[in-house]
Amino acid sequence: MTASLFQIASTPPHQQLTVTMPAAGVALTGRIRVPGDKSISHRALMLGAIAQGETRIQGLLLGEDPRSTAACFAAMGVQLSDLEDDWVVVKGVGLGNLQEPTAVLDAGNSGTTLRLMLGLLASHPDRFFTVTGDDSLRSRPMGRVIKPLTAMGAQIWGRQHNTLAPLAVQGQALQPTHYHSPVASAQVKSCVLLAGLLTEGQTTVTEPSLSRDHSERMLQAFGADLTVDQPGCTVTVNGPATLTGQTVIVPGDISSAAFWLVGAAITPGSELVIENVGINPTRTGILEALRAMNADITLENERVVTGEPVADLRVRHGPLTAATFSGDLIPRMIDEIPVLAVAALFAQGTTVIQDAAELRVKESDRIAAMASELNRLGAQVTERPDGLEIVGGLSTLTGTNVDSFTDHRVGMSLAIAALRATGTTTLQRAEAAAISYPTFWATLNQVCGA
Ligand code: S3P
Repeated sequence: MTASLFQIASTPPHQQLTVTMPAAGVALTGRIRVPGDKSISHRALMLGAIAQGETRIQGLLLGEDPRSTAACFAAMGVQLSDLEDDWVVVKGVGLGNLQEPTAVLDAGNSGTTLRLMLGLLASHPDRFFTVTGDDSLRSRPMGRVIKPLTAMGAQIWGRQHNTLAPLAVQGQALQPTHYHSPVASAQVKSCVLLAGLLTEGQTTVTEPSLSRDHSERMLQAFGADLTVDQPGCTVTVNGPATLTGQTVIVPGDISSAAFWLVGAAITPGSELVIENVGINPTRTGILEALRAMNADITLENERVVTGEPVADLRVRHGPLTAATFSGDLIPRMIDEIPVLAVAALFAQGTTVIQDAAELRVKESDRIAAMASELNRLGAQVTERPDGLEIVGGLSTLTGTNVDSFTDHRVGMSLAIAALRATGTTTLQRAEAAAISYPTFWATLNQVCGA
């Protein structure tokens, strides 16, 4: 990158990126767009793959995670156009017609790919599948989806008493179930619903509080017989379903927009507009949390695009105050908590985040990672078993060496923290950003006027 604020160096032998960020001290300004929503991108590819006819997708996230989904389904006989095309076309094979892959399916770093796909594989009669992922994914809990699938009669084997990938799956006809999930997890819910598509009868999932509902919206749009109770914690699909290919326009990812919301909120002189961001109410916990901290955020141009609400978000710098976050709000902002912790450093008072133990089983242990790396930058952050306690009121951090732990959201959150650090901050393993936000570094330069 030339004329950039940051220096990016590739370090052999693993081609890890090191990003060196000098004390910026510059306001974040302009109008930007963020890449397509990761959750919606995965679902558009998967439902497109199993529907009848063509699905046309615009705004697909070209991150490594959706690429893993696309590669897995291509290995099962699904034809996709070039993912770089403006409109990606998926030629659906029709429900139940995924081919048995001749090699191990690789979900890479993507929990959504592995967990959602498992529901489809387990319910595909007469096919055998093996699935794996990278070091991080192979350490993440799969028992949470294997348990309900096994209750439906699925045959799945894995390490550590069938709880960890690599996994082997003998697909077969399943029995419907009513699964009461102990965690509010859209991946668990979606896995069971996808298994229910090929299963004769009513498959129901009840979760303790509302998780993102992109699967429900998209399954209904593709023609599944799916009902949702109010407020949405119980969802039933009636199988076998017939899905028909659709047009999906993917909105910008609010989880990616969150970096800029926080960056502008904590950096004096900032005013940013982030255009075309998905504001599905099951995802807007971060807006509620930042507003509870007095952040100046307004929604403009609200509209609905292929079944998902969208708006432009305007954010201005201003004084922030600490708050306590817990309960039902947590699942609606689970991926944004690392960057929310950065906002809390510059809010008056002590912010407490609780009921967020799920953060410990994300791409990294995000509670431990954020506490250790923010403390390296001079913050006072304490780990709780289920969250973080963050002493606010800082005016600056102190630049030093920090690590993403190969977790995309940890890496980008630390880059936002570095905007308020004196001296130089060096982020190791910065390449992780490409999982969900391949253009993050370019946009960081852009908003800083570099
Ligand atoms: C996702 C659900 C969430 C989220 C993840 C994407 C999805 O995970 O953290 O980034 O697309 O369904 P959980 O289901 O584990 O909460």
